[in-house]
Amino acid sequence: LPAPQARAGSAQPTVIAHRGASAYAPENTLEAVDKAAELGIDWVENDVQRTKDGELVVVHDDNLKRTTDAEEVFPDRAPWKVKDFTAAEIARLDAGSWFGPAYADARVPTLKQYMGRVELHHQKLLLEIKNSELYPGIEQETLKVLDNEGWLDGPHLESRLIVQSFSADSVRTVHELKPAVKTGLLGTPAVADLDGYAAFTDQINPSYGSVSAGYVASVHAVEGAHGKPLEVFTWTVNDAGTAQLVAGYGVDGIITNTPDVVRDALPAG
Ligand code: G3P
Ligand code: CA
Repeated sequence: LPAPQARAGSAQPTVIAHRGASAYAPENTLEAVDKAAELGIDWVENDVQRTKDGELVVVHDDNLKRTTDAEEVFPDRAPWKVKDFTAAEIARLDAGSWFGPAYADARVPTLKQYMGRVELHHQKLLLEIKNSELYPGIEQETLKVLDNEGWLDGPHLESRLIVQSFSADSVRTVHELKPAVKTGLLGTPAVADLDGYAAFTDQINPSYGSVSAGYVASVHAVEGAHGKPLEVFTWTVNDAGTAQLVAGYGVDGIITNTPDVVRDALPAG
């Protein structure tokens, strides 16, 4: 495999494979993690939710329709919510054929399985706690899986793990439960509110259409939860021109379905 990108100490934004390298393999599968590694991308992003029987799984939507064959396998279980299926039931589903026939064996991974694959490739993880209003206690459970998998030790906390959410309550909870974990708040909060969020987050992660050079500078001017300037990871940028535009704004990270395209669009760091 190509060597991981060297980004530390560089002004060049970190490139993060969104739901894995999801333009080239089905999103949020182990195959999408593998594809990011093949491309030499060392950061992957994922989405974590919870099954009926309490297993944390990696899937984006709150239901299984778009990215699995749940409708065919369980025709009487509409609306196919993740929270209404057991881990064993979800493990039966094909999570790849919707993307392409070559991926018929892809499955919805458990978070534990996912962490194992990320670790295998020595990659780094931007973990999103998704739809947390549906899963009371998911923050603590996520930290427990991370701990069990060895991801709350010094080296991982220092440089290999960020936990993000659209829910400020979830980000605050993660910070309070485990203050050493680096965190990110998804969205584009008003500049006037940044000081409040900075008490428990290290990043503000907006959609690319909502950022500007001025907004990035305003975020950078605030000290985050770990005493460094708040960072900005923006999403979801899938073309070279937009990557160059947001890099020019000074963003710290670019979350992308096409990480090779974005990496190759940026000047060598
Ligand atoms: O990591 C940012 C991005 O993933 C947030 O949006 O809907 O793709 O989870 P979404
Ligand atoms: Ca996400």
